[in-house]
Amino acid sequence: MDIAVLSDKLNQTLSTLRYGENPAELYEPIRYIMSLGGKRIRPLLVLLAAKMYDEDVENALLPAAAVEVFHNFTLMHDDIMDKAPLRRGQQTVHEKWNANTAILSGDVMLVRAYQLLFGIAPDKLATVLQKFSETAAQVCEGQQIDMNFEQREQVSIDEYIQMITLKTAVLLGFSLELGAILQGAPEEDAEHLKAFGNNIGIAFQLRDDLLDVYGDKAKFGKQVGGDILSDKKTFLMLTALEQANPQQLDVLTCWRHQTNAAIALEKVEAVTAVYNALDLRQQTEEQIDLYFQKALQHLCAVQVPDARKAALRGLAMQLMERDS
Ligand code: IPE
Ligand code: IPE
Ligand code: MG
Ligand code: MG
Ligand code: MG
Repeated sequence: MDIAVLSDKLNQTLSTLRYGENPAELYEPIRYIMSLGGKRIRPLLVLLAAKMYDEDVENALLPAAAVEVFHNFTLMHDDIMDKAPLRRGQQTVHEKWNANTAILSGDVMLVRAYQLLFGIAPDKLATVLQKFSETAAQVCEGQQIDMNFEQREQVSIDEYIQMITLKTAVLLGFSLELGAILQGAPEEDAEHLKAFGNNIGIAFQLRDDLLDVYGDKAKFGKQVGGDILSDKKTFLMLTALEQANPQQLDVLTCWRHQTNAAIALEKVEAVTAVYNALDLRQQTEEQIDLYFQKALQHLCAVQVPDARKAALRGLAMQLMERDS
């Protein structure tokens, strides 16, 4: 069974989910964001990890769907916080409806995510709920730190890596750990798979930061330059602040906190020009590769034959090179 087959099964499962009907204003935005698709990476990671221990992954389908619903909830709220107009090439929920709708629909998605986990075998349920809850709280911590950093002048690369580990990487780590736990994998394997996911997750967010500047809007499906406009402390911005000469530093500091929409394009162009001059594209690619290599070491340590790791390794490689 290859990734395409797992992906079909997953989409089939997602299409059968019923979130609710009344009031329509609460549930329609959920169907909307879920229908916009996305890469569905996290649930695929659940299924690929599960499949390493059992060919039959039926029992992992609803838990995988839970992770995807949770992820979409975080996106709905993240887009309010980031004032993002576009998601997956379409209007964000708070733009199409309003922020209150996006808050409340997001809330009920978190509840639905929990409910999708309730069918897990009783001997594993408590462990999964505990780990999922811990992960969900970490995502919130990361999101708050991300917001705090917008206002802070000094942020180290270490602090940035800690922040993206929380807001992004731990959910990829949890997805893999979940798949392993569901199929009764040895604890050590589950730990290595989680560490594999965490490192892939860091590389994934670094790539996201890169695409936010250099992505093709049509493929990326999000506003290009959004991180620059909201003064996000991305890997690119922090490295630029570290390596800029006095003139470049002037450009970066002059534009910081300039939120006037009329000069948005100018701000993105000016900051991008500094990134180009410092060759930050290349520097970010090198970091991505570094975390990818760290991830692979953990995959190596997982005690199953290599052939059973191939699909996971393949997906991870695709992710590292993604443009959407
Ligand atoms: C977006 O996640 C949020 C980040 C952690 C960067 P994805 O890039 O997985 O978004 P979709 O689900 O494919 O749209
Ligand atoms: C978001 O990071 C991480 C979560 C949604 C938890 P970003 O804010 O960079 O994600 P995008 O770029 O909006 O998808
Ligand atoms: Mg964000
Ligand atoms: Mg965002
Ligand atoms: Mg982003």
